[in-house]
Amino acid sequence: VSVLLLNGPNLNLLGKREPDVYGSETLDDVLARLEKVMEELGGRLEHCQSNHEGVLIDAIHRAKGVHDGIVINPGAFTHYSYALRDALAGVALPTIEVHISNVHAREPFRHQSVIAPVVLGQVVGLGTDGYEWALRALVRKLTQG
Ligand code: DQA
Repeated sequence: VSVLLLNGPNLNLLGKREPDVYGSETLDDVLARLEKVMEELGGRLEHCQSNHEGVLIDAIHRAKGVHDGIVINPGAFTHYSYALRDALAGVALPTIEVHISNVHAREPFRHQSVIAPVVLGQVVGLGTDGYEWALRALVRKLTQG
């Protein structure tokens, strides 16, 4: 199986940005961990982080026919990007949404995800470990139906 991992705005600052909220693991640390997981599961992982909505949308479009599923942390786009939601609905690839922090325990504007209705499920509030659980869950779905 081949999975596209997408990280939205400001996640390039992981480990340095509000470590009390997002932890001390950097994005490179997370990627190294996920590469190992994919090796164990016999799959392939491609990663794209962007601070630009259009770049993420283009990556989602390109994933069709190339990848079997998507793991995405859309960052703040989660809460208002109908364009990102439409892109995911448009390619209709099985997708899992990840949030490092417990968005429901934070500011009210973080309680809504416009992405949630078009994904299989969410992993929320489990720190950067959440990426691993999302990836394992997605691969299981893809291989065992
Ligand atoms: C986030 C939560 C969002 O509200 C925030 O804008 C982020 C990160 C998370 O992983 O907890 O950038 O998606």
